[in-house]
Amino acid sequence: MKKAFLSFIVGCIVFTTSAQTSITLNTDLAKTQINKHIYGHFAEHLGRCIYGGIYVGEGNTKIPNTAGVRNDVIKALKDLKIPNLRWPGGCFADTYQWKDGIGPKANRPKMVNVWWGGVTEDNSFGTHDFLDLCERIGAEPYLAGNVGSGSVKDLSDWVTYVSHPGGSPMSELRKQNGREKPWNVKLWGVGNEAWGCGGNMTAEYYANIYRQYATFMTDWDNTSQIFRIASGASDGDYAWTETLMKNIPHKMLAGVALHHYSVISWTDKGPSIDFNEGHYFKIMQEAWQMDEFIKGHSTIMDKYDPQKKVALIVDEWGGWYSVEPGTNPGFLYQQNTMRDAMIAGLTLNIFNNHADRVRGANLAQIVNVLQSVILTNEEKMLLTPTYHVMKMYNVHQDAMLVPISIESPSYEYQGKKLTAVSASASKDASGALNISLTNIDYSKPHEVTINLRGEDFSKISGQILSSAKINDHNTFEQPNKVAVKDFSGAKLEKGVLKLTIPAYSVIVLNVKK
Ligand code: AHR
Repeated sequence: MKKAFLSFIVGCIVFTTSAQTSITLNTDLAKTQINKHIYGHFAEHLGRCIYGGIYVGEGNTKIPNTAGVRNDVIKALKDLKIPNLRWPGGCFADTYQWKDGIGPKANRPKMVNVWWGGVTEDNSFGTHDFLDLCERIGAEPYLAGNVGSGSVKDLSDWVTYVSHPGGSPMSELRKQNGREKPWNVKLWGVGNEAWGCGGNMTAEYYANIYRQYATFMTDWDNTSQIFRIASGASDGDYAWTETLMKNIPHKMLAGVALHHYSVISWTDKGPSIDFNEGHYFKIMQEAWQMDEFIKGHSTIMDKYDPQKKVALIVDEWGGWYSVEPGTNPGFLYQQNTMRDAMIAGLTLNIFNNHADRVRGANLAQIVNVLQSVILTNEEKMLLTPTYHVMKMYNVHQDAMLVPISIESPSYEYQGKKLTAVSASASKDASGALNISLTNIDYSKPHEVTINLRGEDFSKISGQILSSAKINDHNTFEQPNKVAVKDFSGAKLEKGVLKLTIPAYSVIVLNVKK
């Protein structure tokens, strides 16, 4: 009796002092699909995202291209399995006159990009270029309409230009411009950041404007297959979401957007490479806030839409730092380190675990802007740590979310705490289980135990993204410094998986029967 009591005490001490992450997965209770659109991207006419990063012009002999789009970028984006790509902005969208970007390139008017560096652009990358690119990489286009400075007619014309089969003035114009078949664009944003660069509107005013624009964005036979997304709140602006959910009829509202960037402060964003632990902790705090914001906005949406018909679309997210020294401040060019891999792994786990309401998201931005998956310098191109995480996680696209319960020790900094290990899991069409784990701890590895309940599994394989230093990143001279490796450190015994995840690392495990 005495001995049993002693071992109970010892057990308690071991339990409270060990740094174990304990996860339980109910593998037979997967009911919600993880919408592949959570893995979407965003390309704005901003800095070197489009011009130089994606599009280098048809006549370019130095950089191999197809119809002016870089071949290296096309390949990398195809490999990434991008479900959707949002374009042309961002703030730029509410200044964009789409009719200036069609027809013979030599005749297109120039425009000044008032939001991003005040540069003049020649509209050589327009609707056809973008939609053809989406076809090439197998992504669904997500067009952001101009509500801030464009008319209702402009937007309704854009819808018919890209999707009407034939017989309307706009479909005939499209054909004249060389495209016979419509592209059938389903995903449409009705403006962007209407509370800010999209027009500085109040939520009530925007809700009315939305109703007006959305009415004329229906398709001609009115079956309305298009998926209209309202310009949503920033961060924790719950009143904005509440006003939209209350005042817009849900039959014309497929999604409500949300934007959240991980930023230290808007006045001093800190360096993208040479950050210290204080900078790092703040960015991880911001990344974890995504969970809180999703819960807050979802609670309001549940009040007006308990059946969860309206999706929450986080169509801008990612890390935002000071620009690389010596680059144009209006171009938002920044490097991408293991810290960014942590933002990506953690955020995607959060999205997956909220798959019942979050059914779309767009990382900002795809090439050369903010938390990019690709960086280019003239003919050189590299894949960032964020690219690798997005690729490792793409096994979750359209898979069934496995309910998870997780207890993880904290990552502590100056008395403040954050949950160190996050995870999500899904079951794919073949019945295999994919488990993604991210340890944001700045210095400590963590032991992880995963109980697989409900089914028996026997085979296990895995991949890891890890690096010697937290600010490691890929450069044009050393493009593979941070790269994915096979991971064989997970052991499966009697339905329990055990592994150790190094500090600032991402692991994705594949478990089969
Ligand atoms: O992604 C950069 C900018 O951030 C977008 O143009 C805007 O929507 C947001 O404020």
